[in-house]
Amino acid sequence: MTPPRKLHIKSYGCQMNVYDAQRMVDTLAGEGFVETANADEADLVILNTCHIREKASEKVYSELGRLRVMKDDAVRQGREMKIAVAGCVAQAEGEEIIRRAPTVDVVVGPQSYHHLPQLLKQAKAEGRALETEFPVEDKFGFLPPPKPDAIRSRGISAFVTVQEGCDKFCTFCVVPYTRGAEVSRPVTRIIDDVARLADNGVREITLIGQNVNAYHGEGPDGRSWPLGKLLERLAAIPGVARLRYSTSHPRDVEDSLIEAHRDLPALMPFVHLPVQSGSDRILAAMNRKHTADDYRRVIDRFRAARQDIAFSSDFIVGFPGESREDFSATLALVTQIGYAAAYSFKYSPRPGTPAADMREIVPAAEMDERLERLQNLIDIQQSAFNKAVIGTTVDVLFERAGRNPGQIVGRTAYLQPAHVMASPDIIGKVLPVRIDSLERYSLLGELAARHAQPQASALSQTAIGA
Ligand code: 5AD
Ligand code: SF4
Repeated sequence: MTPPRKLHIKSYGCQMNVYDAQRMVDTLAGEGFVETANADEADLVILNTCHIREKASEKVYSELGRLRVMKDDAVRQGREMKIAVAGCVAQAEGEEIIRRAPTVDVVVGPQSYHHLPQLLKQAKAEGRALETEFPVEDKFGFLPPPKPDAIRSRGISAFVTVQEGCDKFCTFCVVPYTRGAEVSRPVTRIIDDVARLADNGVREITLIGQNVNAYHGEGPDGRSWPLGKLLERLAAIPGVARLRYSTSHPRDVEDSLIEAHRDLPALMPFVHLPVQSGSDRILAAMNRKHTADDYRRVIDRFRAARQDIAFSSDFIVGFPGESREDFSATLALVTQIGYAAAYSFKYSPRPGTPAADMREIVPAAEMDERLERLQNLIDIQQSAFNKAVIGTTVDVLFERAGRNPGQIVGRTAYLQPAHVMASPDIIGKVLPVRIDSLERYSLLGELAARHAQPQASALSQTAIGA
């Protein structure tokens, strides 16, 4: 019997890439590949790249330089090592990668992962590097369903893609170009995936997509289902304790989603709703298709439906033409909303996007200063949010053993890590935990007898404290 071939995937960027890496592992398992954590012993190394910000493609080329040395070593030892570049840099740069880095055997974009086995065979047979053609229409392809073992080893929480791509065309963003047009998966396929995961011990499902609340997949009734209706159906699957979804666009928050938050206890009250800026002028230049007040109203709708709901967001500072007043409007919005967490980035021009041609560049020093001010404000809000949990009892879904002996780690509804000393039997269960203290970003506590109350007090304090 031939020994299994070893596969190493290095992923950068978003959850979608993490999920895609799993899809590639599943696809290549059918070809006899098993995953390894060590690139230097792999028969196939895949760089799963991200193109969203900064000098992502430069990072890929320097990583490829390191891999070339590894590949040469492997050849000297009489082994073969194939190198594939996947992800959004692969999509954006295509053949250019093979020209600049001849060590690469295959370049494959996110819409074509199901062609990977065939591409690898072809590259081998033809003795040359190959690039895929990225056919959009078969985006979700015919990938094999994940194997139960593979699912189990992924633990208690899993991602399921429900849509891919984006039609919003924010002027700073490469996603509509690299991930293509918005496509939603049919409801029954998603139900099947979630049921299979739940049967194999997964308790928390995060529905993912670039613009997940634009979901409009075909339902079993032949109609197009919105995200809220899909969530309602998935909440009825036995074993599903928690549901989440990410990332959402403020323009696409339909009433059915708000109602799902009102009606479904399994739907976690923590929503990632990027706003990018608090200035209407900048939001218009970004082509966000909403104002700061529109965003405030969306937040109010969520809060009216579920009082313990909390939000996270993404922000870009230093978008071309962003004045001090524009930036102040962002700080004002953050202060008013009160976030449990948020990510903020310096604007970086992405080749081929409309904003890359905009002239009014914000000086680097100014951008640094704005980023620091915004991050400080967000840190204050986040730590107030976390501190407010101390002394309360909250529900925790336990996921795995901790680093210290006897310690089990889980997450609260707001994805805060929580540690208790307990038997590993609690893994996979949602149990109330009395929180005693906070160490950096982790909560420490003890299993409690009574059931948790919503963390409403934590939220109101955060909003005021900000
Ligand atoms: N520059 C800086 N940040 C960006 N993002 C997307 N494109 C850019 C860019 N060109 C950020 C946005 C988005 C998150 C995933 O990445 O905030 O919500
Ligand atoms: Fe990019 Fe999100 Fe805008 Fe789509 S909605 S273009 S993914 S920032």
